[in-house]
Amino acid sequence: MGKTTYPVQINILESTLICKHDYQQWYEQSLRAPDAFWAEQAEQYVSWFTPWQKVMSGSFAEANVRWFEGGVLNVSYNCLDRHLADRGNQTAIIWEGDDPAESQHITYQQLHERVCRFANVLKKYGIKKGDTICIYLPMIPEATIAMLACARIGAVHSVVFGGFSAQSLQTRILDAECRLVITANQGLRSGKAVALKQNVDTALRACPDVGTVIVVERTKQTVAWQENRDVWYHEAMQTVAADCEPEKMAATDPLFILYTSGSTGKPKGIVHGTGGYLVYAAMTHQLIFDYHPGEVFWCTADVGWITGHTYGVYGPLANGAVTVMFEGVPSYPTMSRFWEIIDKYKVNIFYTAPTAIRALRREGDAWVTRTSRQSLRILGTVGEPINPEAWEWYDRVVGDRRCPIVDTWWQTETGGILISPFPGATPLQPGFASWPFFGIQPQIIDDKNQPVAANTMGRLVIKQPWPGIMQTIYGDHQRFVDSYFKEVPGCYLTGDQALCDVDGYYLIEGRSDDVIKVSGHRIGTQEIESALLLHHDVSEAAVVAVADDIKGQNIYAFVTLKCDITPTDALKQELIQTVRQNIGPIASPGYIQWAEGLPKTRSGKIMRRILRKIANNDTAELGDLSTLADPEVVQRLIREKVSL
Ligand code: WT7
Repeated sequence: MGKTTYPVQINILESTLICKHDYQQWYEQSLRAPDAFWAEQAEQYVSWFTPWQKVMSGSFAEANVRWFEGGVLNVSYNCLDRHLADRGNQTAIIWEGDDPAESQHITYQQLHERVCRFANVLKKYGIKKGDTICIYLPMIPEATIAMLACARIGAVHSVVFGGFSAQSLQTRILDAECRLVITANQGLRSGKAVALKQNVDTALRACPDVGTVIVVERTKQTVAWQENRDVWYHEAMQTVAADCEPEKMAATDPLFILYTSGSTGKPKGIVHGTGGYLVYAAMTHQLIFDYHPGEVFWCTADVGWITGHTYGVYGPLANGAVTVMFEGVPSYPTMSRFWEIIDKYKVNIFYTAPTAIRALRREGDAWVTRTSRQSLRILGTVGEPINPEAWEWYDRVVGDRRCPIVDTWWQTETGGILISPFPGATPLQPGFASWPFFGIQPQIIDDKNQPVAANTMGRLVIKQPWPGIMQTIYGDHQRFVDSYFKEVPGCYLTGDQALCDVDGYYLIEGRSDDVIKVSGHRIGTQEIESALLLHHDVSEAAVVAVADDIKGQNIYAFVTLKCDITPTDALKQELIQTVRQNIGPIASPGYIQWAEGLPKTRSGKIMRRILRKIANNDTAELGDLSTLADPEVVQRLIREKVSL
C-alpha cells in the first residue's frame, strides 16, 4: 500500500544532514549497537573534560538507567566557552521584547560574561554545587543567563513558568528545597504587567529556606522590598568578577528539575541529568531542525516548559546557533506579530505549538500574507496533536508550501524529541509525528501488554533507553518507578495513545491517563479537582477534557455543592478564581456544570468514563452501566449539560 504523502515542495539545502538512506542505515545501527552509536554522538556533540567509562548502565526494568558514567563536563562551557574562539562575536540570543520597539542582540562573548558574572553572584549569596535555585522570570535573557549560571557552578535550576500562581510557586519552591529565587519586579505581556515579585513575596511567606531573592528590574514599577533578603540583579552584577571557572560536573549529576503534571494532584519534579541530556538536546536540535551554521532558529516556547529548556536554550546554544527569544504573545500588537518577527530577524527555522497555529488561522490569511516569510526553511510543531486542517494551513499559508513541517512528539520526561519527521528525508503525512529518532524503539501495546497490529490504537511505550531520559522524580523515586516502569516491565510507559501504520509512521492521539492538554499546557485533572475542593461551598468535583477547536482540549468541571448552597453564576466565577489562584490561569475551567450527584460505582468510585462522554455530547453509547449505583444521576447530568 502506497503512502499518501502531502505534496510539499521540499525547501532543503544540498548539504542536508539526514537523507532517507542515512536514516534507515543510522536507525538500524542505533538499535543494533547503541553503545557504539551513542559514544560517537557524545563525542561529536559535546566537549568533555574527561571521557566516560561506560556509555549506558542500568536498565528500564530496574529503573536505574545512567548515561556516560565517569564522564566529566560542564554544560555552560559547552554552550559558551567552546564557541568563543570561532564565534565569540556571533549573536547567540536575539531578544524581542513585548513591545516591538524593544530588542537586543547578545553575542556569545557577551553572554559568556553575563553568565560568569551571575554565577559569581550566586556564589556570593552562598549557592554551592548541588544547591537548587528557583527561576521565576518572564521571557527575558536573564532567564537563560540564570540557567547557564547554575550549570556553570553545578547548582540545579528549577524554572517555574511565570503564569503559575503564588501558591503553585510555593509548592514547587518547597518541594525542590530551593535556597534562592530569581524573579523580576514585573513581567510584560501584551502591554500588561504581570506581578511576579508580588507572587514571590506571597509564596515565600512559608518558605523558610529561601534566604535571597534576586530581582531583575524589567519595568520602572517599584515593588515591596525586604532589605535583608531582596537584591537587585543589576546592582549585584556590578559587584562581582567577569570570569568564573566552570565547575567539573559528572555526566550523571543533575542539571535541572522541571515540574510537570501527572495523574495525581501533586506535580512531579522531573530531574534531568547533565551528560546524556546535553548530548540528546544538541543532536536532536541539529538533525531534526537541520540546523546549519549561521541560521536563525526560533522556538516560541516559554523557558518555563521543557521545550524552552531543550530547544530554546540548551540545544541551540550547545550547537552555537542564533536563537530568538520572544517576550510577548502572537496577538500583540497585531495578529501579524510572529510573521513580522520572522521577517525582522530573517528566521530560518520556526517551532511553535498547534494551538497557536489554530488561533492564528482563525484570524484569516491576510495577517500572514502581508509579510514575506521568505527566510523560512523549516517549520515545526510540538505539544499536542496537530489536526490536518491546521497542518495544511501552516504548510500552505505560513510556509508557502516550501517548508517541510516537523511534527515533533516528546514529553518533559523524555528530555528531547523522540518521534518526528526529518526535513528532506521523511515524506510528510499531516497528523503523523512519523519516524522514531535514532535509538528510539517505540511499540504500541494493548491493555494486556501485547503488541497490537498496524493501524490499531494502543498504549505507546519505548523499549530501549536514550540519553535524554529523565533520571528520577525529585524526592520521590518510588513514584518514578511506579508511574513509568511498573505497568509494562522493561519499558518506559509514555501515557499516550498512539498507532503505527503499515509504513511504520506513528500518529499520537493524546493522553490515556488523567492528564489533559489545554492549549498545549499539560494539566492533571486531579490538580484542578483539588483546587475546586478548596472552595468552602464545594462538596465534590470531577474534571474531564472536552474537545476544543482552538485549544485542542478544554476543561469541563462537574461540581457538587454542599447541600445548603445555591448555585449561581457568581459562584461559578468564584470557583474559576479559586483555580486561578491555586494553579494559574492556564488551569481555568472552560465549563462548570452543577451536578446534584456524580455517577459512581457501588464502591463509591467516580465513573469518569461516563462523565467524559456526557461532557463531549457523546451519550449515544454510554457503555456498560451495570456497576453504576444510581442510573438516574446520569440521565440528569445529560439533561443539564452545559453547551460547548
Ligand atoms: C505530552 C507531553 C515535550 C514538548 C512539550 C510538551 C503531548 C507532545 C505531541 C505531538 C501529539 C503531543 C503528548 C505528550 N504531545 N507533542 N507532536 N503530537 N501529542 O511536553 O508538557 O510534558 O507534554 O504532550 O500527549 O505526552 P509535556
